[in-house]
Amino acid sequence: MEKLWGGRFKKNINKKMEEFISSLSFDKKLVKYDLLGSIAHAQMLGKCKIITKEEKIKIVEGLKQILKEIQAGELEIVTGEAEDIHSWVEVKLKEKIGGDAGKLHIARSRNDQVALDERMYLKEEVIKIQDLLKDLQKSLLSSAQKYLGIIMPGYTHLQHAQPLLFSHHLMAYFYMFERDRERMKDLNKRIDVLPLGSAALAGTSFPIDREYVAKQLNFGKISENSLDAVSDRDFVLEFLSSAAILMMHLSRLSEEMVLWSSNEFNFIELDDSFCTGSSIMPQKKNPDAAELIRGKTGRVYGNLLSLLTVMKALPLAYNHDMQEDKESLFDTVSTLEKSLFIMSKIIETMQINKEKMETSTKSDFSTATELADYLVKKGLAFREAHKLVGNIVLYCLENKKYLEDLTTAELKSFHKYFNEKTLEILKPQSAVEAKDSFGGTSLKRIKESIKRAEELLLDRE
Ligand code: ARG
Repeated sequence: MEKLWGGRFKKNINKKMEEFISSLSFDKKLVKYDLLGSIAHAQMLGKCKIITKEEKIKIVEGLKQILKEIQAGELEIVTGEAEDIHSWVEVKLKEKIGGDAGKLHIARSRNDQVALDERMYLKEEVIKIQDLLKDLQKSLLSSAQKYLGIIMPGYTHLQHAQPLLFSHHLMAYFYMFERDRERMKDLNKRIDVLPLGSAALAGTSFPIDREYVAKQLNFGKISENSLDAVSDRDFVLEFLSSAAILMMHLSRLSEEMVLWSSNEFNFIELDDSFCTGSSIMPQKKNPDAAELIRGKTGRVYGNLLSLLTVMKALPLAYNHDMQEDKESLFDTVSTLEKSLFIMSKIIETMQINKEKMETSTKSDFSTATELADYLVKKGLAFREAHKLVGNIVLYCLENKKYLEDLTTAELKSFHKYFNEKTLEILKPQSAVEAKDSFGGTSLKRIKESIKRAEELLLDRE
C-alpha cells in the first residue's frame, strides 16, 4: 500500500497495524466530497499561481474523471488500497495523471481535508433529514385531519386522565418533530464553515485564497482559527445530540404504537406491511417496525456518548482518536433516515379502532374534573370542589357505579348545585368541547392548530 508519509521511515508498517489504522472501509462514504473539495483546492492553487495553469488543468481533469467513474460505478474503492479516502484519491490521481498528482496536497493537510469532507457530507444530510421530518409531519397532519372528532382517553401516569381528541394526540407529535426540524436547520449555521486552508494546524506559508474556495464549495463562512478548525468536532456532536432528541421522540411514538396495537388497548391496527408474525405462534402479528425504531434509539444515544468520550480531554489539535467520529456519524445518519421513513409509513397505513377508543373514555371517571370545574363556576373554592367530587368517586367505587350511572337524585345528595343538566357535562364529548383554551383539545382549537401547522410546513418549503 502506498503511503503519503513513507520518507522518514526505514521499516515497513506492520500488516496488522496497517489494517488497524485504516479508515478506508468507512470513510469511502466521503469520496464525493473529498473529490469536490480537492477540485476546488486545485482550482485555487492555480488561480493563486501556486501551481501552473497546466498543472491545475491536469489535476482538475483527473479528479473529475475519478468522480465520473465513481458515479458511474466503474471505479470501486477497495479496502486495503490506501490508508484512508484522502490517500486513496491521491493514489488514483497519480495512476491517472502521474507525478503532478503530488502537487494537489500543497497548502493542505488531511487534518483540514477530513474536517471539510465531513462538513460537506453533513450539510447535505441535514437537509435530507429535514425533508424526511417534513414527510412524517405531513403524515401526522393528514391523519389528524382524517380522524378529526374522534375521542380517546388522555393519560397521565398511563392512567386515564381526561378525554382528548385523537387528533390532539397526533398533533402533539407534529410539534415535537417541528422542533427537531428547527434544530436540524439551526445546525447548519455551525456546519457551514470552511476549515480548508487551516492545513495541519498552523495555517500555511503559501498565498492561498480561502474565500475563493469557500465560494466554490458554497460555504457561508471560513474558520477563524486554524487550530480550532482542525480539532473541532462540535458540529458532529451537535448533530448527534439533535439526533438523540429526535430518536427519543420517535421512541415515544413507537411505544404508543406498540401499546395501542396490543389487545389490551386495541386502539389501532398496524398495516400488515409493517408487521411480522411469530415462527411458533400462528395467531401473532407483531409491531416490529415500531419496536425496532424504539430499539434503535439506543444506538443513536450510544453514538453521541461515544463521540463525546472520544473528544473528552483531547489536547489540541488533531489527534488520530478523531478518526473514530465517522462510524458514529454515518450510523446515526442512516438510522435516522430509515427510522423517519418507516415511521411516516406506519402512520400513513395504520387503521383506527374508533369504537374502542371512544368506549374507553366512558366508564373511567375521566370527566371527574368537569364536575369539580362545574362547582367552581357556581362559586365553590377549587379545593372544596375537588374534595367533594373525590367523595362522589369513592361513593361510585363502593357502589360499583361510574359517574355517568349516577341519578340526578344521587348527585343532588352531594350538593345542591347539581341538577338534571349536570349529567350532560359528564359526557366525554362535552368534556372535550369545554377545553377551549388556546392549545386545548376542543374541536375548534384543534382545527385552528392544524391550520397553523399547515402554514408552518409551507413556510419552509
Ligand atoms: N483518516 C483520518 C481521520 O479520519 C484522516 C486524517 C488523518 N490525519 C493524520 N494526520 N493522520 O481522521
